[in-house]
Amino acid sequence: MKPPTAATVDAVRQAVAPARRRGQTVGLVPTMGALHEGHASLIRAARAETDFVVVSIFVNPTQFGPHEDFARYPRPLEQDLDVCGREGADLVFAPSATEMYPDGFCTVVEVRGAQDVLEGASRPGHFRGVTTVVLKLFTIVLPDVAYFGQKDAQQAWIIGRMVRDLNLPVRLRICPTVREPDGLALSSRNRYLTAEQRRQAVILSHALREAQALAEAGERDAGAIQKALVARIATAPDAVLDYAAVVDADTFQPVARLPERALLAVAVKFGGTRLIDNLLLGARD
Ligand code: PAJ
Repeated sequence: MKPPTAATVDAVRQAVAPARRRGQTVGLVPTMGALHEGHASLIRAARAETDFVVVSIFVNPTQFGPHEDFARYPRPLEQDLDVCGREGADLVFAPSATEMYPDGFCTVVEVRGAQDVLEGASRPGHFRGVTTVVLKLFTIVLPDVAYFGQKDAQQAWIIGRMVRDLNLPVRLRICPTVREPDGLALSSRNRYLTAEQRRQAVILSHALREAQALAEAGERDAGAIQKALVARIATAPDAVLDYAAVVDADTFQPVARLPERALLAVAVKFGGTRLIDNLLLGARD
């Protein structure tokens, strides 16, 4: 069964208000649609932990660069509604771009510093688009808990920083990365890969696992771990490395020695398709 949908801010507020009046908790899962098992796992977590589950589906134009895939980003809305229904969502918020950004819109929210490194360095303006739309989604839905994936570790960190800095009354839950059996992290962009690129794309997760093994064997030099990541990724003939980084998972700052909680993060291009993956050291993921 497909869940009820709302296309406007007023309609969402009207649909959520009765649940809140009944004293129910509200869970929000923000997505851009083209839903896969990774998204489904977030909806399931929300279903298990909150009373009224809202999934937003909005391909947010402001987080795409001018030469990125906004126009061709997949938008299989009917299939997405089936996924939301199957996973027990109570409401899908699927607004238009003009509903979210009406004429005259000119406010942004920025998390300075972290928004400019790694993904932010490769995709200028990306995180400003993300934080602005996520803050809007928070104020529209007013969730008690919002669900994000560890797959986009920097995004999750930045949103956490925004929540703390702005005292937003929402709790964040960061859910583990869901992977294909061979290790490739699920992503709506995996469908852009050719069969050959898909075969080679396992290099991201393999490189991360090997770097993790190095760390577990006692390597504390972040430079050595970073070099191992780079070397392993270079063994895939069509992989073009964007970055391989070792950062402190709590601050997102680069490190020379492995801190207690280190994050390994990689971004690799196969043709026009850019894939990211990461691994939190010392945690099961
Ligand atoms: P999107 O790429 O659709 O991802 C929606 C959520 O699903 C994000 O929190 C993302 O981290 C999570 N996710 C994606 N792949 C995953 C996987 N393999 N395992 C677990 N979780 C996964 O991220 C966005 O949309 C947007 O930036 C958004 C936050 C909706 C703002 O526009």
